[in-house]
Amino acid sequence: MSSGLKIVQKAADVRSAVLEARLQGKSIGFVPTIGALHEGHESLVRSARECTGYVVSSIFVNPKQFGPKEDYTRYPRDQTADAAALERLGCDLLFAPGERDLYTSSDRTRISVHGLDEFLCGSTRPGHFQGVVLVVAKLFNIVQPDEAYFGQKDAQQAVIIQRLTADLDFPVRIVIEPTVREPEGLAMSSRNEHLSTGERKRAVALYEALSEAKRVIEAGERKPAAVKQSMLNRMTRAGFDIDYAELVDGSNLRPVKNIDGLILIAVAGWMGGTRLIDNIAVRVAGTGVEEIVLEFPEWSRYEWKR
Ligand code: PAF
Repeated sequence: MSSGLKIVQKAADVRSAVLEARLQGKSIGFVPTIGALHEGHESLVRSARECTGYVVSSIFVNPKQFGPKEDYTRYPRDQTADAAALERLGCDLLFAPGERDLYTSSDRTRISVHGLDEFLCGSTRPGHFQGVVLVVAKLFNIVQPDEAYFGQKDAQQAVIIQRLTADLDFPVRIVIEPTVREPEGLAMSSRNEHLSTGERKRAVALYEALSEAKRVIEAGERKPAAVKQSMLNRMTRAGFDIDYAELVDGSNLRPVKNIDGLILIAVAGWMGGTRLIDNIAVRVAGTGVEEIVLEFPEWSRYEWKR
């Protein structure tokens, strides 16, 4: 178990704490976040706590993954509450760098995971995933974890990070955990804080649209257009300004012509001034439809043993 949460701001302090844990024979679990922790993050920390000996989390509202018109400045920030939650969950180390601890004005390196950021959020948030993979690569180099935990809620991000990790040979096992939902189905998200009571009720339509899509597929529909239309109808009725409702191949994130194999059913839309996303991933084989998380350990050259 953890003997209290240590909070550090500098990469060098992360490295020495992690080295000390390694010298004690502990494996390192890592939960990177942009803060405003909710039960989704908590489930990631719990899993890391169960499966690894020393748990590191990071909180960094990464400016490089927010577009110029996005919610970087109004993104919820409460490090005291977040640190208290991490402490309660038995996290060992919180890395909370400032912007200058991670980036300098002379930085020139950019990383892009080609092709996987063309559709879904990639098409309406240009540069977003480049910002995500840059900071994740930097954090992996600083923390050097054995395992890193991400949520299926950000499915495109999860797939892109698995590709990044495999392509750049990070010896990190990526663990994807299922989306944690409110009792009525709304996916947990830091951005839910911005919803009014009425908007929050209507936002459940995202999950209802996905659940309806899954039912339609279970009933035998194999053409994406019909499934997409049912999702669009449900979201429009709830008052969403729709960004997308798509069915893509779960491994290459390109729209499918036929619903077969690994399918990511993904939606995004604006409820008032708040952009929300959600998804369900399924494996479709013949008449069988099984809900899954998009985890691709076979992409990595490393073999993982616990
Ligand atoms: O999912 C998030 O919280 C962020 O995108 C991540 C992966 C921590 C990168 O800033």
